[in-house]
Amino acid sequence: MARTILVTGGAGYIGSHTVVSLIEHGFDVVIADDLSNSSPKAVAAVAKLTGKEVTLVEVDLTEEFQVRKLFANYPIEAVVHFAGLKAVGESVEQPLRYYQVNLGSAMNVLKTMARHDVWDFVFSSSATVYGDPEVLPIPEGAATGPTNPYGRTKLMIEDICRDLAASDKRWRIGLLRYFNPVGAHPSGEIGEDPQGHPNNLVPFVMQVAVGRRDKVQVFGDDYNTADGTGVRDYIHVVDLALGHLAALDNLTAGCEEFNLGTGSGASVLEVIQATAKASGKEIPYEIVARRAGDIATSLADPSRANSQLEWRADRNLEVMIADAWRWQEKNPYGFGERPADSN
Ligand code: UFG
Repeated sequence: MARTILVTGGAGYIGSHTVVSLIEHGFDVVIADDLSNSSPKAVAAVAKLTGKEVTLVEVDLTEEFQVRKLFANYPIEAVVHFAGLKAVGESVEQPLRYYQVNLGSAMNVLKTMARHDVWDFVFSSSATVYGDPEVLPIPEGAATGPTNPYGRTKLMIEDICRDLAASDKRWRIGLLRYFNPVGAHPSGEIGEDPQGHPNNLVPFVMQVAVGRRDKVQVFGDDYNTADGTGVRDYIHVVDLALGHLAALDNLTAGCEEFNLGTGSGASVLEVIQATAKASGKEIPYEIVARRAGDIATSLADPSRANSQLEWRADRNLEVMIADAWRWQEKNPYGFGERPADSN
């Protein structure tokens, strides 16, 4: 019988792509999502893409009884935990909400797993745990030091996992530190659909390309990088999804961190150029002041994941941007409707 995987936050951007990969590799999936920042349309699209029915349970993971019910109702054998709040700026304004939701959900899930004798846990962590990195590219052993409440919730959940694994040898935990996930499924049926003003570069540039916004604001061109703009290790969301599969397949006793990135970087201007090329549209931009809290360069050393998980992110920036554009062009308003007041 196929293994049943609980995917929390499985209706979201990275979650939905991971669910596709899991189903394509023969797993049964139960999605738990509160749909606060995701759409049931993503789950419908996943079902269409895979030709399989996908179970979506609307759950508030901060309510322990709801998590217990979930484990009582489905034969869950492993958990991939994406669910959580993820906006850096919002976390600075509403720290308690971030600690409550992100830590509360993770603890309820972990507690209920142990009650049900389920010990395999893959956690959606972030390169944000490194803060301003001490070395580049960044290995997992580098110092951590997140600079905002969102990042601290990621590191705290990692700490909880490390403590749990030390307390009971049955735990098998993979902490996946994502660099900058972008792109979309090549079908253009699922992709990133930020609500309101996109915080991240690629969704913003895509909205300019599709005509929803006038121009990109480039946050600073005086960084110590080749063209002065920020450099990030962008990773195709399908490669990232496959990283979760590799992690599940290769979990070992204990708790281990894995960087998921490509190891090479692109600047803001390179992302803008790649988008102009993929879309055939002009992408107007202006250089503005640096964004508070940004760093010059973030680059993964992904060698641990390459060797231990036998996984590699090989889709390049051109593919990432071409796939992001296909999704955006097909779905200019994401899973939502075109607002009535737009022209
Ligand atoms: N940028 C712009 N204009 C924009 C948006 C971003 O110039 O409108 C620049 C940023 O300054 C940065 C680069 O584009 O140089 C990438 O910015 P993103 O916001 O896309 O990504 P970040 O690296 O800042 O953020 C990512 C994750 C966060 C995580 C953070 C810190 O999206 O979840 O890394 O590691 F917290």
